Amino acid sequence: MQHPTRTLVSVDTGLDEQTVRAALPASSDIQIVGVVTGVDESWTTLQETPTDLLVVACSGYSERALFLIASVVKERPGMPIVVLAHEAPEGFLRRVFEVGADDAVRLPESPEQVNFTLQKVLVRKRAAGTLRENGNAPMICVLGPKGGTGKTVTSSNLAVALAQAGKSVSAIDLDLQFGDLALAMGVRPDKTMYDLVQSGGSLDAGKLDAYAMPHPSGVRVLVAPTRPDQASSVGPEFLREVYPLLRGASDFVVLDSSPGFTPEVISAIDNSTYVCMIGTLDTLSLKNTRLGLETLELMGYDSDRIVLVLNRADSRVGIDDDDVLAVVGRRPDIRIPSDVEVPRAVNEGRPIVMAKPDSAAAKGFRALADEFLRREGHGSVEADAGEPDQGDSAQGVRGLAGSLRSRNGNGKPPEEALGEPRKRSRLGSRRR
Ligand SMILES: Nc1ncnc2c1ncn2[C@@H]1O[C@H](COP(=O)(O)OP(=O)(O)O)[C@@H](O)[C@H]1O
Ligand SMILES: [Mg+2]
Repeated sequence: MQHPTRTLVSVDTGLDEQTVRAALPASSDIQIVGVVTGVDESWTTLQETPTDLLVVACSGYSERALFLIASVVKERPGMPIVVLAHEAPEGFLRRVFEVGADDAVRLPESPEQVNFTLQKVLVRKRAAGTLRENGNAPMICVLGPKGGTGKTVTSSNLAVALAQAGKSVSAIDLDLQFGDLALAMGVRPDKTMYDLVQSGGSLDAGKLDAYAMPHPSGVRVLVAPTRPDQASSVGPEFLREVYPLLRGASDFVVLDSSPGFTPEVISAIDNSTYVCMIGTLDTLSLKNTRLGLETLELMGYDSDRIVLVLNRADSRVGIDDDDVLAVVGRRPDIRIPSDVEVPRAVNEGRPIVMAKPDSAAAKGFRALADEFLRREGHGSVEADAGEPDQGDSAQGVRGLAGSLRSRNGNGKPPEEALGEPRKRSRLGSRRR
């Protein structure tokens, strides 16, 4: 079953909200997730709220509305946009289509007629293959300030553990120069992101799928270029096109990153739903973890969306959660023990959750996957492992309840949540 179309309504300043509300359909297919006034506020809300359709309501010749439409077309290609135009001069409607809106209705108009236009646009977009049912799948960016902390081991095991729970998962190696995610997973790098860029032409989900390498667990991996000199051809702009397509085609997207805050990594953080920060248990590494968390804070990244993982967390080291709290400023959410099976599994190219599912490290990685499944309103890995996917109903729970929980932490309906915007900079507030 298809979920209702999550529709965000942006009302231009100067237009009476009641005029707009009177035209909105009361159809069960259209779920109004927010009615927001002003371009800035609409833009921010769009980043934070899973949205399938944008309605832009404006009055007269509105440059603000044109700007909003153009920005959404650029940043969220494939998002259907319908304009409700009150007292619009002819030239304005022409401009609306020029900047990329899909359709326009003159107000006042009956909700039935507006509904007809919305459905028409949705059908056309779906037919064009640009609208996905699930285009806002959570994207998890695995970060660690230094090399060797376990980012790649964590990314590969997290991706596979999510796949073992019956989810469709895409993984991307953002360590563009020295990426080894394919190696750690035992995926043949027949095609890499470099080949994808070189292939030219427009990008769509089908093409992306053809360049994603399959892993036996079902994870599809976008492999880093094989040579460091090829890395520069895969820039943040290209990746920004890739993310929404992957998020439309999978239940989860996992990004393995390079050490440090490269432009690709910053852009990935900016586009992510969660950051999974990896630290290891020694004082020097914890200091780096703190610096990494401080950088995220400077970027305005919501700390609720960060999951702190302590890798190689052995009790023998003599650093407990309180010590971590003292140095890093927060307790770890997940601890992964040191385990000789981990490098062995890496060498075999078989993530430990497959190679040694009963090991303590594998349990730790499954607990990490559980953390994200729980936040997104899915069942746990342990409960789901080996079970077939629960299909649309499970996704519906994640899509509505889960996304609300991760945004608000209080399960409020979106309209209520919109009434109390959080103080965050635009950079970090994106949920895409
Ligand atoms: N929990 C662990 N126990 C034992 N070895 C580990 C563990 N986590 C990572 N390693 C080893 O540390 C090395 C670096 O891990 P990797 O994931 O490649 O780090 P990064 O991607 O952060 O550079 C690998 O050889 C890996 O096998
Ligand atoms: Mg790595």
